[in-house]
Amino acid sequence: MSKIAVIGTGYVGLTTGACFAHMGHEVVCADIDEAKVASLQRGEVPILEPGLDDLVRQGVEGDRLRFVLGGAAAAADCEFAYLCVPTPQGEDGSADLSYLEAAAREIGPVLPSEAVVVNKSTVPVGSTKVVERAMGRHDVKVVSNPEFLREGSAVHDFLNPDRVVIGTDDRATAVKVSGLFLGLNAPLIVTDPASAETIKYAANSFLATKLSFINAMAAVCEAVGADIDDVVLGMGSDPRIGPQFLRPGPGWGGSCFPKDTRALVHIAEDAGYDFAMLKAVIEANTEQFELTADRVERHLGRSVEGVKVGVWGLTFKANTDDLRESPALEVAGRLQQRGAVLSCYDPAVKRSVNGLELVDSALEAATGAECVILLTEWDEFRWLDFDRVAEVMAAPNIIDTRNILDANDLRRRGFAIRGLGKP
Ligand code: UGA
Repeated sequence: MSKIAVIGTGYVGLTTGACFAHMGHEVVCADIDEAKVASLQRGEVPILEPGLDDLVRQGVEGDRLRFVLGGAAAAADCEFAYLCVPTPQGEDGSADLSYLEAAAREIGPVLPSEAVVVNKSTVPVGSTKVVERAMGRHDVKVVSNPEFLREGSAVHDFLNPDRVVIGTDDRATAVKVSGLFLGLNAPLIVTDPASAETIKYAANSFLATKLSFINAMAAVCEAVGADIDDVVLGMGSDPRIGPQFLRPGPGWGGSCFPKDTRALVHIAEDAGYDFAMLKAVIEANTEQFELTADRVERHLGRSVEGVKVGVWGLTFKANTDDLRESPALEVAGRLQQRGAVLSCYDPAVKRSVNGLELVDSALEAATGAECVILLTEWDEFRWLDFDRVAEVMAAPNIIDTRNILDANDLRRRGFAIRGLGKP
């Protein structure tokens, strides 16, 4: 078992640290936020991520997981230092590497020789070199090990990976890093750092492309009277296409896809390639927010100005409390701009966001509304007492942008319901 320092306790760092501890490694996680470190030391997890609080508690109680302030305190005694710091979008669309460089500068002087620094942050091609330079150490190898964790199932994804990618030109280092994953049943892909870094952008951008495509197909289905669910079933049965990641929605968002697609456009541009296709994918997504707001007006047959609309779900997807670049917020914002009076409910959001009125239950959001729009696929929306919902609404209109409700059942109960890509 190895001694691992994890720098950054965001959802990637915390999941990485807690899962490595669960696998038996000795882990020290560091953050620059004193209050966060203090609460993690008490075993309190500041984000909603299924299974993570249990692993953190078990790790802390079992003495395999500790939290400290500042990277240097964690790295002084480690064999591996995982860099899991944010790489937000800079003003020009490129990834801002200042957190990464600051973390590398901090741990550089204290790392034991022969330690391996592992870059897990999503970074542009060539960032391994940036970390090497910032650390100023020639005896310490830097490798890339991109993460493929989905929020809401990050723990599951870490412990059941589809693949582990290790980017280094040094075989011995690749073998060392791969040893950390012993016990996980996953193919190992060892490649050079540039390819490892590119894999991450390519994967996220391709998934975003799939989603923009299927959202466009949903619009086509509506126009020609086809049913997107059957279309997806039919096309997804071709193993070259596959059924996954083809659920239409109000648009894609979150902390990764929007940032990474824009970054890849920028990376390509810097390298002299105009990635027009990816630009169109991003544009189609912005259009999807607009089209989703249009659907409410099309359904009602008039403008939403002055109309009370209930909003179900604000997070960018279910099982997370993350609101970053949430399509639900984008759509709600557009409805508000058009003059709708919104009443919003999300099981994971307790504080008002973007000035939206927040209420305590789905039923309350629906009360007095002429239309409800379901924007995030929270399970609890499937199991509401819909007879009661019909009673409290001013008119029983529902737009289900995630196609999770049983439309036939709701029609029987008197609702006029519109899904996405439905005839
Ligand atoms: C994404 C990738 O799926 C992970 O593999 C990757 O590691 C991660 O980004 C990252 O770069 O850190 P995540 O942002 O957690 O994970 O969210 P996804 O589950 O991929 O969903 C992204 C967006 O697409 C959400 O708005 C979601 O609602 C939407 N989506 C997803 C759909 O509209 N339909 C689908 O079929 C799937």
